[in-house]
Amino acid sequence: PSETGRVLSIQSHTVQGYVGNKSAVFPLQLLGYPTFKGQVLNGQELLDLIEGLAENDLLYYTHLLTGYIGSISFLDVVLQVVERLRSVNPGLVYVCDPVMGDEGKLYVPHNLVSVYREKVVPVASMLTPNQFEVELLTGVSITSESDGREACNILHAAGPSKVVITSLNITDKLLLIGSHQKVKGQPPKQFKIVISKIPAYFTGTGDLMTALLLGWSNKYPDNLEKASELAVSSLQALLRRTLADYKAAGFDPQSSSLEIRLIQSQDDIRNPEAKFKAESF
Ligand code: ATP
Ligand code: PLP
Ligand code: MG
Ligand code: NA
Ligand code: MG
Repeated sequence: PSETGRVLSIQSHTVQGYVGNKSAVFPLQLLGYPTFKGQVLNGQELLDLIEGLAENDLLYYTHLLTGYIGSISFLDVVLQVVERLRSVNPGLVYVCDPVMGDEGKLYVPHNLVSVYREKVVPVASMLTPNQFEVELLTGVSITSESDGREACNILHAAGPSKVVITSLNITDKLLLIGSHQKVKGQPPKQFKIVISKIPAYFTGTGDLMTALLLGWSNKYPDNLEKASELAVSSLQALLRRTLADYKAAGFDPQSSSLEIRLIQSQDDIRNPEAKFKAESF
């Protein structure tokens, strides 16, 4: 394994635009991860891929990253993959973005919710839900910071030691809430990062955010605040660049969703200026 570790990223691959692995792979490569494996269409193909890796003694991974998963059968195979990778490396870090929906709308089949809640959350090391997803997973309706913190506590009790609610939309600003339970059963360290809303709609930002959190958390495993500050700082610089680029081309940024300027933002990903500060609760 390289110094930074090996990441297996199971996410969609698109030909146009930046979502899924198209949003996650480049920043992870910039942050020093050399290997990425495969493009996957269904559960059986994922199992075949894993089998191929196993036969070649290539199942040692330090991290597993998952994002949008569209079916129960695929999610079940992902659970098998977690188990398989942990049998090779018990220290495997599973970073799970439980992509189910946004702003009150579910965009996966509804029967995935209970599988995420009952089977996936318990094996995840780090979880990066948005507001709607954290509400689905915990049953807590979040209208305040303390609701957000309480939801993190519920998730810690179910499994993951790190939880980052990537965005809460409860004031005029966006709020990120991070929570790191360093010792099982002990109160977690919790913090928030306040982010100004940019008047535009972007796609691929959730996938990018989770990839950045994985990358920086690996460099700062005991400092989720710092990892989150760096991830948010990179992402916000990238969003500003994306907006400026569309405006320069004479495009109205509110007329449709904007494709992130990922490649053009490589310096912000490698070397973010830490403009965003975590505030402890
Ligand atoms: P998911 O991918 O599961 O939908 P999410 O809802 O948190 O997660 P996004 O809404 O894409 O994902 O947001 C990801 C990050 O990007 C958040 O931390 C958020 O602060 C930032 N972000 C997205 N859109 C904007 C915006 N218009 N202005 C400022 N920040 C934004
Ligand atoms: N479309 C596809 C095909 C995806 O894989 C994803 C990823 O999760 C999305 C849309 C949404 O991306 P995001 O939530 O990062 O904006
Ligand atoms: Mg969102
Ligand atoms: Na998220
Ligand atoms: Mg997403």
